[in-house]
Amino acid sequence: MPKRIAVLVSGGGTNLQALIDAQDRGELANGEIAAVLSSTPNAYALERARLAGIPGFSFPKSQYPTAQALTAALVDKLRELRIDLVVLAGFMTILTRELFQAYENAVINIHPSLIPSFCGKGCYGLHVHEKALEYGVKVSGATVHFVTEECDAGPIILQKAVEVQPEDTPEILQRRIMEQCEWKLLPQAVALFCQDRLAVEGRIVTILPPKTQAM
Ligand code: GAR
Repeated sequence: MPKRIAVLVSGGGTNLQALIDAQDRGELANGEIAAVLSSTPNAYALERARLAGIPGFSFPKSQYPTAQALTAALVDKLRELRIDLVVLAGFMTILTRELFQAYENAVINIHPSLIPSFCGKGCYGLHVHEKALEYGVKVSGATVHFVTEECDAGPIILQKAVEVQPEDTPEILQRRIMEQCEWKLLPQAVALFCQDRLAVEGRIVTILPPKTQAM
């Protein structure tokens, strides 16, 4: 049975698109994008889901009194949809422990820096690249990690680096990191999860070799 994937989004959804494209190329081995859940009703990501024929659901942040209430509503929906893997792809709301309890080592996030640099509360989207340029780093990149209660601190699955160029603006660096890192790493990590090739022990994630097919 393919693993049922839910992608949680808030904005443009280019990482969602990378997952949809990978699925269309047959690269999400044993995985199927079953739903897209957005914290923003007018997110373009929902339009991408519609165009791909994937059910989309909106959970406007403003309709929930607390992050806990929003998380509880999301978990109910994820259970109803029989989701196996939750992917945070540009999801800009911090969720509470109810999600990680329901989906232990089954929630993954993409972050646009080399964690543990330029991450944590308030460090998201373009801000990450502004901070990296202000600091003067010569390389930056992206990280896919399991999500735990501590923001951006869960076990790292994959990372990839790019060089920072002297003339970079936050927007230029963001685009390079998306193209060269994020849109490749996220589908790879999802495919590994769906093939049961990620073993987690404490902070360490080991990538297991592919299972050999029975003849
Ligand atoms: C991506 O760069 C993603 O890594 C980042 O937001 C962008 C969303 O773009 N996520 C975070 O900063 C999470 N802390 P997208 O909607 O086009 O995928």
